[in-house]
Amino acid sequence: MRSMNPLSIQPIPYQGSKRSLAPRICQLIPKGIETFYEPFAGSAAITIYAATHNQAEKFVIGDSFGILVDLWEMIIERPGELSERYSEIWQAQHGNPHHFNEVRSAYNNQADPVQLLYLVARCVKNAVRFNKHGHFTQSADKRRTGMKPDKVERTVHTVSKLLKGRVELYKGDFEACINNARPSDFIYMDPPYQGTSSGPDKRYAAQLERDTLIEALHRLDTRNVPYVLSYDGRTGDKVYGDPLPKSVNAHLLEIPAGRSSQATLNGGDALTVESLYVSHGLEIFDMTVPREEQQIRLFA
Ligand SMILES: C[S@@+](CC[C@H](N)C(=O)[O-])C[C@H]1O[C@@H](n2cnc3c(N)ncnc32)[C@H](O)[C@@H]1O
Repeated sequence: MRSMNPLSIQPIPYQGSKRSLAPRICQLIPKGIETFYEPFAGSAAITIYAATHNQAEKFVIGDSFGILVDLWEMIIERPGELSERYSEIWQAQHGNPHHFNEVRSAYNNQADPVQLLYLVARCVKNAVRFNKHGHFTQSADKRRTGMKPDKVERTVHTVSKLLKGRVELYKGDFEACINNARPSDFIYMDPPYQGTSSGPDKRYAAQLERDTLIEALHRLDTRNVPYVLSYDGRTGDKVYGDPLPKSVNAHLLEIPAGRSSQATLNGGDALTVESLYVSHGLEIFDMTVPREEQQIRLFA
């Protein structure tokens, strides 16, 4: 089997994956970390990058979307079974225009993680949507067939080899997931966007209250656990979500994340900027240097 470029490893093609920002986010991880936690894992892009570069001894992948965690369990423990079953589901779409909708109904009844992978891979823009009952509602992307089975096979075997034996999976709320984190550990958090996740068809299976997050950050400060939090951002002058209050003991850094595709469609060229809150305990900052210059030093 061909070996993969570590930057292209993406077993779950989730829209909103932080894969492209991973090299920049991961330079904020201190050396000598014991356990790296990603409690809002989704496609766990930051864990994969950090594990590829041996940035921690152990990893914890957590998500409150239980079927996604079941999918992670299959990726890591049973990659062969997963890729075979994915291939069967994927092949069966040829010649059956109703296949995606049939798999979607079956998934909404049976909660099968392999069906979920097919739906994520084949749906419009890989952008999952759920209704208030947690049912998958996104439609098929008519122009694409979804990730090819041979790519799935290569990717899941690579990820299994990378993480097996040094990862723990957690199904449930982020706070319980990080409950045992210590100052020698590190947490990367990417909660659902406050500014863009509301409305009838949700981007993620669960939403998160801003106050709940703020209280959790206060508790991490008290416990001296270092963290980086991705939290909303802006495109041009349009700001998503409110900034976090001063009581949160973290620096705000803004990473330029390229041009917004929506703005390009509308004829504009606004830059998207992602907000990162970096806990004070990380000591990566030179406090004598203005924030803008620190950003340039870190993310140039
Ligand atoms: C923005 S996505 C994370 C994307 C991820 N950074 C990636 O690279 O794919 C947020 C994830 O948090 C999960 N989630 C939402 N509320 C949660 C909670 N209270 N506790 C744990 N996970 C939660 C969602 O199911 C979703 O997978």
